[in-house]
Amino acid sequence: MPATSLDQVVSLAKRRGFIFPSSEIYGGLQGVFDYGPLGVELKNNIMQDWWRANVYERDDMEGLDAAILMNRLVWKYSGHEETFVDPMVDCRNCKSRWRADQIHGQCPNCGSADLTEPRPFNMMFKTAVGPIADADAFAYLRPETAQGIFVNFANVLSTTSRKLPFGIAQIGKGFRNEINPRNFLFRVREFDMLEIEYFVMPGTEDEWHQRWLDDRLRWWASIGVSRERIQVYDVPKADLAHYSKRTFDLMYNYPTLGYQEIEGIASRSDFDLGSHSKDQDSLGLSARVSPNSHSTTRLTYFDPTSNKHVVPFVVEPSAGVGRCFLAVLCEAYDEQMVKPPADEKLAAVSDALAAYLKSAGKSEKISAEARDALVARGEAIATDLPSALPQVESLLAMVGADQIELGKKLRGQAQPLTDEHFRTVLHLRPRLAPIKAAVFPLKRNHEGLVSLAKGIRKSLQSGGRMRAVYDDTGAIGKLYRRQDEIGTPFCLTVDFQSLEDQTVTVRDRDTMAQERVLVAELQGYLEERLV
Ligand code: GAP
Repeated sequence: MPATSLDQVVSLAKRRGFIFPSSEIYGGLQGVFDYGPLGVELKNNIMQDWWRANVYERDDMEGLDAAILMNRLVWKYSGHEETFVDPMVDCRNCKSRWRADQIHGQCPNCGSADLTEPRPFNMMFKTAVGPIADADAFAYLRPETAQGIFVNFANVLSTTSRKLPFGIAQIGKGFRNEINPRNFLFRVREFDMLEIEYFVMPGTEDEWHQRWLDDRLRWWASIGVSRERIQVYDVPKADLAHYSKRTFDLMYNYPTLGYQEIEGIASRSDFDLGSHSKDQDSLGLSARVSPNSHSTTRLTYFDPTSNKHVVPFVVEPSAGVGRCFLAVLCEAYDEQMVKPPADEKLAAVSDALAAYLKSAGKSEKISAEARDALVARGEAIATDLPSALPQVESLLAMVGADQIELGKKLRGQAQPLTDEHFRTVLHLRPRLAPIKAAVFPLKRNHEGLVSLAKGIRKSLQSGGRMRAVYDDTGAIGKLYRRQDEIGTPFCLTVDFQSLEDQTVTVRDRDTMAQERVLVAELQGYLEERLV
């Protein structure tokens, strides 16, 4: 079963080193996160998978890696200087600042209704280029990678001899000065983007828009993000971005957050190439664009069939890596009962939970909102015991939970039972797993076992073929649990039989089944299954 609350995934990601708050030792920086040793592997695997599916496995795509810093005029003519804004209100009482569309006439911090009128706030970060920070020197950190593709359209066309339709894919950082970054990786100020600009003959854009929608849904399913938890939202005309003719937003049902945008697939007409072109009047553009007095280039395509220069239309699938990373973790997360606990031990947890919830329901120490959330979650857990037993820990991590008496007692009853009867496992697609294989010696002080295990790890990882680790810091059962929790698909144990017949035990993460495999055949055995 996938994660039922975002807290489960946030807690695992922090505990096991997937994600760290940025500059944590100085108190962090709001809306910015670092990817730790496991996080960087998972993130790289996601990005590689997207690149493989969208560039290598198609024959109509090129790649690009444009710079983050660009001439400021790019953002003038893209429309971002004028329109990449959120209306904001300030609370005159506590001086906090909020997005006008996210509050309902009341400051979420202090409850005051004394708010300013909404004012536009541009979300692009500014920086100075060169040694003198005067008005001419400033540049923006790009809020999307897309513009790097549009302004390189003529370069790619002339160096690759592509014919329409074709696309350009790019992965790179985007920066947005979000007013209220929140929900872990979901809304942040610095994030990686997966963007495609697909150029088509005018008149064929609707067909390609639909084809990209189908393609992208297939990719999400292929990385384990269930089609059942994605809704396609056909954005109403009034809510479309300034460049869009029609947009499909893919909305993923995140635990706790509900349906939220994970990818946008926009039909952008000839707005972008038209906006960045010179001689706009002669191009017969369908989009309304601002006059461009700076561009040196006509961003057109010579159509050999009609013998005419046309401005291609654009279909743009655009996703954020962080939101994808979070969805992949939520989908893969599972707390599995390995064996059922004894009735009397379970009854003791039920009693402790009931007492805790009674105390929470009466508590004056926390807000009514926190109290209601706590009680609702606790009651859901109570009705779903024993399978919800591991969720007691995330209940006790909820806002206000530490203010309730009896929390310690509940943890004392629930934790040992969870440890004994459950395992946390990430059922990641094996090719996405941060670590593909973990190798253990049955005894850590036996030279023969240790040296064979270390040798296997080294040979599996050599040539960069797969990330493999060696571990001898616990009993085998404990080591299995540790790897299950981070999604390692295979654990290899070197035992005394290995020294005689050159086989090891390979244990499958999902089925927990074990089989003996010849050391000489391990590489092929694993590669075949890392799909
Ligand atoms: N070039 C089109 C574009 O930038 P967008 O809908 O603003 O479109 C694309 O962003 C995707 O980037 C979103 O679907 C989302 O996955 C991700 N994204 C946007 N803002 C984000 C933020 N502040 N934090 C994390 N991801 C974000």
